[in-house]
Amino acid sequence: MAANSLRDLFIEELRDAYDGEKRLLKALPKLAKAATNVELQKAFTSHAKETGRQVTRLEQVFRSIGESARGKKCDGIIGIVEEAKTAMEEIEEGAVLDAALIAGGQRAEHYEIAAYGTLAHFADLLGEQRAKELLGATLDEEKAADEKLSTIAMSDVNRQALTSGGEESEDGGGLARGLQGGMRRVAKAMGMANEGGGRGGGRGNRSTKRSPGGTARAPRARGTKKR
Ligand SMILES: [Fe+2]
Repeated sequence: MAANSLRDLFIEELRDAYDGEKRLLKALPKLAKAATNVELQKAFTSHAKETGRQVTRLEQVFRSIGESARGKKCDGIIGIVEEAKTAMEEIEEGAVLDAALIAGGQRAEHYEIAAYGTLAHFADLLGEQRAKELLGATLDEEKAADEKLSTIAMSDVNRQALTSGGEESEDGGGLARGLQGGMRRVAKAMGMANEGGGRGGGRGNRSTKRSPGGTARAPRARGTKKR
């Protein structure tokens, strides 16, 4: 990168964001397809549409500063998308995969929040008001998308992941094994394990791709209010 001024750096960072958005535009429908929870499917699908508009908005930013719209390989998003692909390959469909997809999705959102926050401030310092407004609008959307994922995780998915699965996800999850494994053992000790016959049985676990997802819930575990 030959950025010798803040303006050069601004353009480089815009190109990075442009490439990252285009990669997310391709990845988000795959995440939606892999998700079991209906609310999560909807969140990924609607954010894919929003991402399409963000690509267009970046093109407007380039135009507003008199630069051509082109991307520059965004290694950060490439890595995040790769990790999500690995999760989709290694974890069976169901609540645990949903939790992993949310973890990946939120990594992408936080990356973008950092990028757009920086870009909007650069635009402000450079006196590029139109660019600042456009970048600020996308920043707000990324924050909202992140919060939506947090809500889905905390109201449904993570708790379902805690009580779903048995042997397979115990060793194949790869997701927060230490903490979740411990919490799962507590849930089992409380008789809430979902191994086919428990009270929470059949809901939201890996074999119920078409289950009500967002609305069906396993019983709440007592004493886990922290999340
Ligand atoms: Fe985005």
